Amino acid sequence: MRSKIVAGNWKMNKNSADTEAVLTELSAKLPDTQAEVMVAPTYVNLAGAVRTLESSVIEVIAQNMHFAESGAYTGEISADMLLGINVETVIIGHSERRAYFGETDEILAKKVVAALEKNMRVMFCFGEELEDRKSENHFKVVETQLKNALFSLDASAWSKIVLAYEPVWAIGTGETASPEQAQEMHAFIRKTITEAYDASVANNVSILYGGSVKPANAKEIFGKPDVDGGLIGGASLVADDFVAIIESI
Ligand code: PGA
Repeated sequence: MRSKIVAGNWKMNKNSADTEAVLTELSAKLPDTQAEVMVAPTYVNLAGAVRTLESSVIEVIAQNMHFAESGAYTGEISADMLLGINVETVIIGHSERRAYFGETDEILAKKVVAALEKNMRVMFCFGEELEDRKSENHFKVVETQLKNALFSLDASAWSKIVLAYEPVWAIGTGETASPEQAQEMHAFIRKTITEAYDASVANNVSILYGGSVKPANAKEIFGKPDVDGGLIGGASLVADDFVAIIESI
C-alpha cells in the first residue's frame, strides 16, 4: 500500500532561528493524520531541525545531495553526511536544480543510485515546462525524464522511491495544475511504470503533486485517486498554511 505524504520544500529560506521557531510551531499544531509529514530545510539547518523535531513524527529530509561518496567537490554534501545526522530521505531532481544548476537526467540517475546504495529514500522530482504542455509534449517529456533517471533500477528499488510530479509552469507562479490535469498526469505516470515494471510497482509508489499547492486548493488536488499528497514550496514556510494543507489530506 502506498502512503500519503505531505512534504515542505523550504528551498533557500529561513535562518537557523526561524527554522527552529517554525518547526516548533508546526510540531505543536500538527494535526492527527495518517499522512507522513516531511520538511526539507536548507543544509546548514538540517542538523538543528533534526534536534528540534527529535520527539516529533515530522521527518527532516534533504533538498539535494552529490552522487560521490566523498572527495574534491567543493560545496557539496554526500549521502553519508546526511545519514550521519539522521536524515534518511533526499529530494533529487527538483526543477530548480535542473534549471539553475545544470543537473541533467544523467547526473540525476547517478544521484538516485548513490542514495539507494546507502539505503536512503529518494523523492524524485520531474515535470514538463510550459512550452512542452503548449505543444502537447508533456506526456513524452515526463516519460523520458522517468525513463532516463529511474527505469534502469531493479523493481525492488522502487520501495525506496517517492515521485513528485511538478509541472515547471506551476512552481512558485501561483498557477496550479487543475485537479483534472494532475490526475491525468498521475494516471499516465502509473501506466508508464506498469509498462516498464508491473502493476504492483506502479500501485505501490506514492506520487505527489507539486506546484503552487495552497490551503485553498489542496483538498481538491489531494482528492484525486492517483494523487498521494504534495510537495509544497511557498505555502510550507508558514506553519498555519502548512498545517491547513496537511489537514486537507
Ligand atoms: P511552490 O513550490 O509550492 O512554491 O510552487 C513547489 C516546489 O518547488 O516543490
